[in-house]
Amino acid sequence: MAKLLYIQASPRGDRSSSSDVANSYIDAFKASSTDNSVTILNVWDINLPEFDADRLNAKYSFLHGQNPSDAEAAAWQEIVAIADQFKDADCYLYSVPMWNFSIPYKLKHYIDVITQPGLTFSFNPEKGFSGLVTGKPVTAIYSRGGEYNNPEAQGMDFQKPYLEMSLGFIGFRDISSIIIEPTLAGPESAEKTINAAKEEATKLGANVL
Ligand SMILES: Cc1cc2nc3c(=O)[nH]c(=O)nc-3n(C[C@H](O)[C@H](O)[C@H](O)COP(=O)(O)O)c2cc1C
Repeated sequence: MAKLLYIQASPRGDRSSSSDVANSYIDAFKASSTDNSVTILNVWDINLPEFDADRLNAKYSFLHGQNPSDAEAAAWQEIVAIADQFKDADCYLYSVPMWNFSIPYKLKHYIDVITQPGLTFSFNPEKGFSGLVTGKPVTAIYSRGGEYNNPEAQGMDFQKPYLEMSLGFIGFRDISSIIIEPTLAGPESAEKTINAAKEEATKLGANVL
């Protein structure tokens, strides 16, 4: 039995290419064991707390080994609940459209909320930073209107490198990726790339753990 947390970053519902491919992954994951379960978290549907002064001060208090004030500790609890929900899964799936060469800002907000000292990473002046979400596989599905697989365009891709770096920072090492590109070069080309990505997703989803 495995619990998959699916973090969906497109607000486009049924019209989303990244969500469409993610559905193939989920179907294969569910078919591989009747005990497997999926929690869907669309970052556009949840009320993420603002990272305001109290929460920031709480973060710095934790980083510096100091006790937060009551107001800071209360503000921090909301962050703890969201990070705990994140850590409760056995495996992870992200579906992520490229927005202005990077990730949608709601996903960045979610990453800012869960990437916290003492919750998903630790800091020690001698050892430096260590991720705390370890030993769990993650698959990320990236959709892009254009193409970024040639050397000139690769440097413009801040979507996949950023997500992989932020996942690595909190401890992930087993990171698989599926790229859907180009989605905006006409319907025939989009259908071809989406179908190829669905095949890959089906294979990965059937062999998660
Ligand atoms: C706000 C916004 C910004 C975008 N920026 C880029 C971009 O920088 N590069 C690109 O190749 N495509 C860009 N696109 C196109 C999307 O990445 C593309 O349509 C993708 O397939 C959308 O995925 P989805 O259908 O899962 O939402 C952008 C789309 C939107 C809505």
